[in-house]
Amino acid sequence: MNGIASAPSPAPVDSRHPAADALAARLRERLSDASRVFVDERMASRTTLRVGGNADVLVEPADEGDLANTLETARALGVPWRVVGRGSNLLISDRGIRGAVIVLKSPGFARLRCDPPHLDCGAGVRLKDLAAEAKRRGLAGLEFLAGIPGSVGGALRMNAGAWNTATFERVERIRHMAPDGTITESAADRIPVEYRHCALFREHLVLSAVFRGEPSSVAEVEERMNELNRRRWATQPAASSAGCIFKNPLTIPAGRLIDELGLKGIRVGGAQVSTVHGNFIVNEGGATAADVRRLIELIQGRAWEMRGIRLETEVEILGDA
Ligand code: EPU
Repeated sequence: MNGIASAPSPAPVDSRHPAADALAARLRERLSDASRVFVDERMASRTTLRVGGNADVLVEPADEGDLANTLETARALGVPWRVVGRGSNLLISDRGIRGAVIVLKSPGFARLRCDPPHLDCGAGVRLKDLAAEAKRRGLAGLEFLAGIPGSVGGALRMNAGAWNTATFERVERIRHMAPDGTITESAADRIPVEYRHCALFREHLVLSAVFRGEPSSVAEVEERMNELNRRRWATQPAASSAGCIFKNPLTIPAGRLIDELGLKGIRVGGAQVSTVHGNFIVNEGGATAADVRRLIELIQGRAWEMRGIRLETEVEILGDA
């Protein structure tokens, strides 16, 4: 089976958040010049899946002070906000996001300091840069991060993982900001986490984290990283995707289940179940968020009807449907 017509185009966005323009104007007055404020920002170009409509306002605060200021201003104007990292685990609706999106990628959130065996990283540091620095310093144990296309903040928010290691297993301390702007530093092992989920960071914003590597040699770390990269490229697609779409159920990996159900390669519009790995939906160009959602629902329906398994999405679905 192949090819289902594209999902109907979404209705045009009926309304932006009523206070969106006021928020943008207020932030442009209050934040330092190094902070950036965008209006009607296209989210498709800020996600790895390359779908999604506009965010009313998008803010890249320059530092923690400007971030606290952003939260306070949004609260005063009653504008909802949420944080987005490198957009590698997101499905943003075609109608986009009402309110504000905050992205911590300014240099103030992207510093990376190494004091072996520790690496202190801002929330905006790319995981592959963290892994590369660990390699340069001969620190082992962080190689698995090299192939995850996200940022430190996003990886902690969802306790990202690969090759049987999850992010929290390699973190010692995390600084985070509550929605009211207060900053706390917590020991990572005091924060409850689950497979691909950390409830605290659904509310609090990760500011920075201290990772711990194991002293080793550059050559050994490099060899392991190359091996994991080889395995990744042999088993996962290179096309635009949001990584694994579903969490693995306890009884069977989602990718194997989808494969066994014969769903690899099926399409809805421009979205396709990867022919390489069943738990990836790829956008070869031209997919809409509605296409991806319909494909997700089709897979979930088939898994339930044929095997009695409820597949739960791992990607975060954001925005007005
Ligand atoms: N399999 C198939 N057909 C497929 C895909 C997989 O039979 O189309 C089989 C594989 O042969 C293997 C089993 O299913 O026996 C598991 O597959 P794989 O080793 O690829 O691991 P996975 O459980 O599908 C998990 C993570 C990935 C991570 C890899 C590598 C989840 C949902 N996925 O995938 O993480 O990269 O392990 O460690 O936990 C992500 O979270 O976005 C992600 C991609």
